[in-house]
This record gives sequence, structure tokens and C-alpha cells, in this order.
Amino acid sequence: MPKPPGNIVLIGFMGTGKSTVGRALAKHLHRDFIDMDAEIEARTQRCIPDIFAEDGEATFRDMESALALELAGRKKTIISTGGGIVLRPENLEALEASGTLVCLSASAELILERVAHHENRPLLAGDSKLEKIRALYEARKPLYDAIPLQIHTDGLPADGVAAEVLRHLMAI
Ligand code: S3P
Repeated sequence: MPKPPGNIVLIGFMGTGKSTVGRALAKHLHRDFIDMDAEIEARTQRCIPDIFAEDGEATFRDMESALALELAGRKKTIISTGGGIVLRPENLEALEASGTLVCLSASAELILERVAHHENRPLLAGDSKLEKIRALYEARKPLYDAIPLQIHTDGLPADGVAAEVLRHLMAI
């Protein structure tokens, strides 16, 4: 099977499986994998909630944009982005120029299941997580929907989503 050219960049709301699917794709394609959130945490030696709490969201967004620009210079890497990468059009422009953007989606209920037991997402911290997910997802929906390649993940295991991604990429 021919391999898709360029980077494969996974986009989507928190808890849509970007990191797990990215890892599965990288293993299958024998390519490097970079998880942007993990990379920011490793480079700063701080966790994302601390960055948000101590420096504010805007500083995190600047780090995210700088990393997106840097990673856009790579070739044939599987990149899983943070859910807010869509907030700045320049992030998507740079990443799209480097390969193919793939947007993963999931129902709010499934997202809740995946994020409920982790307190590592400052935007969903505290109670009423389902309401927070719905409100934030609604606000960002046009940004996610603007990505041409969409994969809905409900009912699929990570390997199944990875296979779907590959099937779509081969058809491009
Ligand atoms: C965010 C998503 C998180 C992380 C940060 C902000 C967002 O990444 O970048 O908490 O704004 O949607 P995941 O999508 O990997 O959870």
C-alpha cells in the first residue's frame, strides 16, 4: 500500500482520541509521532494546567503556535495537536501546508467518558463537565467543521479509527 505523503496532522476536540490514534498510525506507517501537548510539557518541564494557571491561556497558545510552525517544517511525521489548535488560523495554514489535516470527532457523551477521570484539562476543570464540553464544542464547531477530512470515532477502537484515516488518505 503506498504511504500518504507529508505529515498527517490530527485535529479535534479534547477526548476525540488524537493521541491514541496518532500513536497507532505512527506504528503502522513506521513514522515519527509527536504529541504537541506532551512536547510542550517536556520542553517546559511543566504540566499544561500549571502553564494555564501560572502564565495564562494566551501564553500556552503562543507556545502552541510556535510549535505548530516548527513542526510544519518536518516531513512525514504524525502530529497530534491540542484541541485548541483551530483557534488560530495561522496554525492550521502552516500545518496544512506540511501535509494533510484530519479532524476526529466524537459525541459529547463519549468525550466525557474519556476525559472524566483526568484533571489535566484546565478548560474542563471542576464540575458540570458535560455542559462545559457541549458549550466549548458548540463555540468551536465551525472551526472543526471547516477541515475537509472528517472521521467520526464513536463505536470505533483506536486501530479502527487509524484504519479509517488511512483509507481516506489513500483515496485523496
Ligand atoms: C485544549 C486541549 C488540550 C490542551 C489544552 C487546551 C483545548 O489538548 O492542549 O488543555 O483548548 O481544547 P487535548 O485536545 O489533547 O486534550
